[in-house]
Amino acid sequence: MEPTLRAALVVTLAATGVALTTTPATAAPTRYEAETAPASCNGTIDTNHAGFSGSGFCNAGNAVGAAAQFTVSAPTAGTARLGVRFANGTTTARPTDILVNGARVAGTTFEGTGAWTTWVTKTLTVAVTAGSTTIAFSPTTADGLANIDYLDFEVVAGGTGGNGQPNDANIQYYGRWDRSNASYYAMGWAGGYLDAQFTGSSIGVRQRNAIDLYYSVDRGPLQWRRNVSGNVTLATGLSGTTHTVRIGYRERAGSYTGDPVFGGLILAGGGQTARITRPQNFVEFIGDSITVGQPNADRPFTAYAWLTGEALGAGHTQVAQGGACLVSQDCYGMMDWFRRSSGYATTDDWNFATYQATAVVINLGTNDVGHNVSTTQFQQNYVVMLQRVRQAYPNAHIFAMATFRGRYAPETRNAVTAVGDSRVHFVDTTGWIGTADLVDSVHPNDAGHAKIAQRLTPVIDQYI
Ligand code: GCU
Ligand code: CA
Repeated sequence: MEPTLRAALVVTLAATGVALTTTPATAAPTRYEAETAPASCNGTIDTNHAGFSGSGFCNAGNAVGAAAQFTVSAPTAGTARLGVRFANGTTTARPTDILVNGARVAGTTFEGTGAWTTWVTKTLTVAVTAGSTTIAFSPTTADGLANIDYLDFEVVAGGTGGNGQPNDANIQYYGRWDRSNASYYAMGWAGGYLDAQFTGSSIGVRQRNAIDLYYSVDRGPLQWRRNVSGNVTLATGLSGTTHTVRIGYRERAGSYTGDPVFGGLILAGGGQTARITRPQNFVEFIGDSITVGQPNADRPFTAYAWLTGEALGAGHTQVAQGGACLVSQDCYGMMDWFRRSSGYATTDDWNFATYQATAVVINLGTNDVGHNVSTTQFQQNYVVMLQRVRQAYPNAHIFAMATFRGRYAPETRNAVTAVGDSRVHFVDTTGWIGTADLVDSVHPNDAGHAKIAQRLTPVIDQYI
C-alpha cells in the first residue's frame, strides 16, 4: 500500500498481546543483524553512527510503513522474546506496528535515546508458530522508524497454556476487532467471531453490558444466548480433554445498541487454552443488509456470506450494514465506510495491516437506486471502490457481484472491465434466486441465502 494511503488508514492501537519488560534473557537468544539478508530494510544500511553491532544498521526511510524486517527461525510454537536494539537521536518517540508473518500483533514505540550513537535494547514478547517467521517493525507515523541495529530472538515458552484473556495468543479473531481496551475487545461490523481450543469440563465467556451472542462448542450448530451480560456459562459437563469454542455477537447497528465485546473465556479450574489452527484463506464480504443477513432471525450466520466462508473452509467477516450504498450520497457509502473499524466509527480508522483478506466479495448497488445515484456515477465510483480495495489488499481476489435485483449490474460489469486487473472478477448472479427465496422484494430468506452460497462458493474456490 502507498505510504500516503496508509497514513490515512492507520490508527495507533494500544499495545496488546505484548509485554514490555526489562528482564534480560537468561538463555541465549539468536541474534539477527538488520543489515544481513534475509533481513530487509526499507531504506539504507548505514554506518555513520558508532556503537552498532555487525557491519551496519538499518536507517529506514522517514515514512509510514518504511519497515525493518527480520526472518527468524522458531524451533517451536510459543511465546517469543524479542530484543530489538535501536537508536533515536530525536526527542520524539517513533511508534511502530509489530507484524508477525505480515499480520499486526502489537504496537510499541522507539523513544528518544539521547543521541544517534546511543543504542538501547527494548524487550517485548509475541506469539509465534514453529518455523520460518517474519517479524517486521512498520512505523505508523511520517517520522518513520528509529535506526535499527539487530533483533535478538528466543522462544521462551511453549505454545499451550493460555489463560483465555482477550490478549491470549491462542485465541484467533476473525473480522475487525478493536483491541484498544485490554479488558474487552470490541467487534466492529457484522459476522465477527473468535475461535479457541481449551481444556477442562466447562466453558463460559465474560461479557460487559447486554448483548445477543451466538456460540458453538465442539463445532456443534451455532446457538443464541440473547440479552446476556456479565459472566455467561456456555457449556458444562464436557467430557474428554480438548474442546473448541466459537463465539460471535449480534452486530451493533441501527436501533440495536447491544455491547458486542469479548472479555475473555471463563475456563474450568485447571483449564487452559491451546493453539487452534487458523485457515489459510480469509474472505471479507462488503455489502448492505443482504450481506448482513437482515432481517432474518439467525443472521449473521444464516447469511450467504457466512455460509460461503464456511463452505470454503475460510475465515470470514461481513463488513456490511443495513441501508448501505456504494456511493455516499445521503447514504452509508461503503466505498468510504469499508475503511472503518466498525459501522459506528467516526473516522477511516481501520488498519488494513491487521490482517489481509485473500478474497473480497462486494455486493453493493441495491440501495443506491433510492438515493438518485446515476448509472454513470455508479460506474465511476465502483471503479474507485475496486481500486481502494486493491490498495487495502494488494494480493486478494476481488469479486464484484451483480446485485440480485440486477440494479446497476451492467455498470458493475463495466467497472470490473475498466480496472483491467486479472484478480478482479465480475460475478453474474442472474437467476440465482427467485421470488420464493425472498422475505420481501429484496431480502433473501434463509433458503435464498443458502442457494446464493451454493452458487458463490465454487466461483471463489477456483481462485483461492
Ligand atoms: C538523521 C540520522 C539518521 C536517522 C535520521 C532519522 O539523519 O543521521 O541516522 O535515521 O536522522 O531521523 O530517521
Ligand atoms: Ca531514518
